[in-house]
Amino acid sequence: MAHATPVPADALRCLPDDAWDTGPTTHLEHLVEGGHVLEFPHLRFLLAPDERRFLDPAWSDGRSKNLSLRGDGSIRGARGSATDLEALRAMIARYADSAQALVDRLFPHYRGKLRAGNASLRPFQVEGRAASWRKDDTRLHVDAFPSNPTRGVRLLRVFHNLNPDGRARTWRVGEPFGDFVERFAPRLRPALPGSAWLLHTLHVTKSRRTAYDHIMLQLHDLAKADLEYQRGAPQAAVDFAPGTTWVVYSDQVLHAVMGGQHMMEQTFYLDPDQQYAPETSPLHMLERRMGRPLR
Ligand code: SIN
Ligand code: FE
Repeated sequence: MAHATPVPADALRCLPDDAWDTGPTTHLEHLVEGGHVLEFPHLRFLLAPDERRFLDPAWSDGRSKNLSLRGDGSIRGARGSATDLEALRAMIARYADSAQALVDRLFPHYRGKLRAGNASLRPFQVEGRAASWRKDDTRLHVDAFPSNPTRGVRLLRVFHNLNPDGRARTWRVGEPFGDFVERFAPRLRPALPGSAWLLHTLHVTKSRRTAYDHIMLQLHDLAKADLEYQRGAPQAAVDFAPGTTWVVYSDQVLHAVMGGQHMMEQTFYLDPDQQYAPETSPLHMLERRMGRPLR
């Protein structure tokens, strides 16, 4: 299918660093805020021999697709003896520390302002995973979650492909956020009066949805439900080889995961007003497009 506007060839920025806490690369706030994916093909997260066993999906409790380390230090989504779970916790915590050292170095402007969220190990194979269309991450989307309003706070994610069998994690990366918003803006509808209050009161949402959250969820759903958009939108296929780390604002960059197994991920939150260029945030872009405050 012909693509109206191709994805810029530099959507990915390839960087040479091979250590988490030191290296040549710094001051990349403008690149990541500009919707680029920062790719580090030589930035490895090494497992100790005794940790390789944790790549087996059998450590999952079967209820969640992630084994997560929460901010309070607890492990979720895993099962095993207390000793095993402590070793798993230490491994994920080491990833969290590595990701923190990396973002502190890459983004000095964010120092002391990024808040670390969960870190997770994702041991399951992407292919063949059944999901409703709304939860289907093989469809291009920006991250927005029904129960977790962000109120405009940014989602900065540090991913790493841990696959031991040479398998890439395969993504598609889509068009710039501004083009995406222009395309779907005519289909956005205001929230029903009182709905944010009701969802919060019924504990469907963990905090009150703002107009921003309502729009981001609609953009997420409109893109995923539109098969013509999925096939025909500007997009590039990207393979992240094992041993590759990549950093991206997943609330801004259209992405889909097409294949792979064994990944680590650390989420950071940043108030958009603490960005290097706050006007490039989805919140500010949507406020300009809609002509009203969305907080
Ligand atoms: C996603 O954020 O859509 C999933 C990314 C992945 O599993 O590689
Ligand atoms: Fe996503």
